[in-house]
Amino acid sequence: MHQTLNFKSMDGLLKGKRGIIFGALDEKSMAWHIAEKVVEHGAKITLSNTAMAIRFGKVKELGQKLNAEVIPADATNIDDLEQVFTKSMDVLGGKIDFVLHSIGMSLNIRKKRPYTDVNYDFYMKTLDISAISFHKIIQTAYKLDAMNEWGSIVAITYIAAQRTFDRYNDMADAKALLESIARSWGYYYGKKRKVRINTVSQSPTPTTAGQGIDGFDVFYQYADKLSPLGNADADDLANYVVTLFSDLTRKVTMQNLYHDGGFSSMGMSDELMQEISNKLNKD
Ligand SMILES: NC(=O)c1ccc[n+]([C@@H]2O[C@H](COP(=O)([O-])OP(=O)(O)OC[C@H]3O[C@@H](n4cnc5c(N)ncnc54)[C@H](O)[C@@H]3O)[C@@H](O)[C@H]2O)c1
Repeated sequence: MHQTLNFKSMDGLLKGKRGIIFGALDEKSMAWHIAEKVVEHGAKITLSNTAMAIRFGKVKELGQKLNAEVIPADATNIDDLEQVFTKSMDVLGGKIDFVLHSIGMSLNIRKKRPYTDVNYDFYMKTLDISAISFHKIIQTAYKLDAMNEWGSIVAITYIAAQRTFDRYNDMADAKALLESIARSWGYYYGKKRKVRINTVSQSPTPTTAGQGIDGFDVFYQYADKLSPLGNADADDLANYVVTLFSDLTRKVTMQNLYHDGGFSSMGMSDELMQEISNKLNKD
């Protein structure tokens, strides 16, 4: 039978829900904005990041502010991930309702190895950290039976999974894998526990990972000029992800959802047309 959902207030969309947020480094991080927003909407959460990020970033500060335990974990390490889920269920007082994967890193990008000359050890690391970690997080939750029914799992991705962007390098391949993992696990976890799994494809956003991409400012400006609504920022993303963690989207699963001000449907905008014709007239 279809259950009617009754929301008294939009503010309490996540009231009573327990979540785990992976990937908040500093106040620019998407995960930082999402952590703040889910708590604002009534959720209780734990935060996780690498020991190094906890030492050098600001996640402890966020933990204090949101009254959230910070649990160190390398998201490529299964023992660490088991700790995150076990400890989270313990401190939050029950099974988990939502998980955010907001993790990405490419040594090829960091060390300026172009796509035509990647180092394959770095390449494997890119895939492991930026994509396979999503599989590992979900498999850990699945084996521990750590998610409540109708739970929601989201990872943040980029349109370079579908289209080629010069300089996005091996992260494009990682994002394609990440999105495929969401579809595959969405099937298995949906069948087992009605857990939904989606990726959100976000506009270029000025964060540590984003600004690490060579030519980030050009990516940012180009997308902003092409998108009828302009780029989506981290706060817009946080609002969108709250809906995906809420009961308002219980039948949305196995999707790659564009959150990009319309960028993904555009070919040419008047603004870009004007800029290019001005340049042509000058030449
Ligand atoms: N910034 C953008 O323009 C943009 C656009 C679309 C998608 N994304 C994606 O959003 C996600 C979050 O990135 P961000 O832009 O907020 O940058 P960010 O640098 O703030 O976040 C990346 C996080 O990944 C964590 N991380 C790296 N290696 C890890 C590991 N082994 N285990 C656990 N955590 C690890 C880092 O500590 C950091 O907290 C990434 O998947 C990124 O690819 C970013």
